[in-house]
Amino acid sequence: MRCSVHSDFGALFHRPYASDVTKRYLVRTFGCQMNEHDSERLAGLLEADGYVPATDTEDADVVVLNTCCIRENADNKLYGTLGHLKSVKDRRPDMEIMVAGCLSQKDGDLVAQKAPYVDVVLGTHNVHRAVDLLHEHLATGDSVTEILSETVAEDHELFPSALPVVRESGHSAWVTIQIGCDNSCAFCIVPSVRGPEISRAFGDVVAEVERAAADGVTQVTLLGQNVNSYGRDLTLRMKRGADADATSHIDAAHLDAAHVDAAHLVGDAWVAEGTDRARPLFADLLRSVGEVEGIRRVRYTSPHPKDLRPETISAMADVDTVCEHLHLPLQSGSDRILATMHRGYTAERYLERLAAARAGVADLAVTTDIIVGFPGESDADFAETLEVAAEARYDNAFTFVYSSRPGTEAADLPDAVAHDVAVERMMRLRTVVERTSRLGHVARIGHTEEVMVEGPSRRDPSRLSGRTRHNRLIHFPSDRPLRPGTYAHVLVTEASTTNLIGELVEIVATPNHRRRIPVSLA
Ligand code: 5AD
Ligand code: SF4
Repeated sequence: MRCSVHSDFGALFHRPYASDVTKRYLVRTFGCQMNEHDSERLAGLLEADGYVPATDTEDADVVVLNTCCIRENADNKLYGTLGHLKSVKDRRPDMEIMVAGCLSQKDGDLVAQKAPYVDVVLGTHNVHRAVDLLHEHLATGDSVTEILSETVAEDHELFPSALPVVRESGHSAWVTIQIGCDNSCAFCIVPSVRGPEISRAFGDVVAEVERAAADGVTQVTLLGQNVNSYGRDLTLRMKRGADADATSHIDAAHLDAAHVDAAHLVGDAWVAEGTDRARPLFADLLRSVGEVEGIRRVRYTSPHPKDLRPETISAMADVDTVCEHLHLPLQSGSDRILATMHRGYTAERYLERLAAARAGVADLAVTTDIIVGFPGESDADFAETLEVAAEARYDNAFTFVYSSRPGTEAADLPDAVAHDVAVERMMRLRTVVERTSRLGHVARIGHTEEVMVEGPSRRDPSRLSGRTRHNRLIHFPSDRPLRPGTYAHVLVTEASTTNLIGELVEIVATPNHRRRIPVSLA
């Protein structure tokens, strides 16, 4: 495994691979939004190199699997998919297979050992090297594995957002504001594959949103593992810059002199306010992004409950473009389990924060993540999770059976919960969540919602599907096709646990993005 650092940005923009025949690529994404975002960058790099999208593996010259490792079934999915690709490669040995993302970061050389027909393996810290590594493989015929042990220093390499991009949709964009995670939740592999928390410069985030808006994007989702700690490290970076200029502390005069750089790193508003506050807050970023012309919806994921600040809630309430939706991962409702997980809050504290959010933001939709069957979880612990889930009145919950991840603290804990017990608990939890979810949906009947159209409904193509500001799925008939990205007012007429049904009232805004460039996620 190599641990070298590469920082040749120019190498990103290769001339198209020397061939008369257009080469096709396919990026397949596993896992979370962070991976979807990285996949858009992988696609962008390949297109900058002259590749065009393939429709499926059969006509692809390069297949990139962007992997996840958060739960064991993600491993199984990858190796299952690789097994299928091997049979394609047996027929078409020229097809190149690349494995990127969290699982390759975690497994390193193991991917090539388990699947020797894979041509290129890269990790989470060197997305920008994808095309270089592919060329290296094409030039030598050897398979290449490059996993960097840590994130490198240049911003464009730290943040795949700074790389060329092929967005999956023309009207929505993922924007990374922070990479890595400084928490140490006992169950979670993320800190070991994504590294320590690093915030992206304030000015870079806003500039990316401005560029996206100029291209016709109207909805942005700010991404980070723990968005509310955004900015913690930026002030340190600023101080280091100040120290380098022989100033041992930040004072107003120095800030003035270094205004332009400081404003770029930590934001205008924070600099203008002086140095009383310890750092720019996520709330400052929400406000700045929310004001970018052309942006109609700002979403973000995920805040950690222990770091959810009143300022964030105020920004959500004040800024019209920030959607009334909060994804607040609970993980467990038992204080004992929360302590073993190192989550840094009790159930009571969580519910207090949630109540404060609901008090601050009118008509707030709330979703969460919950793990069942964490080691040592007793019936009594689980009963507490059910109680908290009912009290929280979630609009939706992502529920997971605990999956042991080697290398995490929880992997060494005793008292594993039997799989069938965990599965049964999850069914009971789902019943509780579905009840509040249905009630939340039914309460929308008679309301007119602003809906962003996503496209024809998958089940019934005569209907359109879209998302309300609460991120609820809604289907409605339309006698004319509406382009994805259209905003419409839709009257809610029916509701179920999973979605709303409505009637089109009027079109509010039509999309103006120039073209939709598909990234096949098939
Ligand atoms: N087992 C089950 N679920 C997990 N998650 C993270 N790690 C694990 C694990 N080892 C869940 C958490 C997190 C979501 C993204 O995935 O609920 O919030
Ligand atoms: Fe994992 Fe916890 Fe960090 Fe989320 S906050 S990425 S669960 S360690």
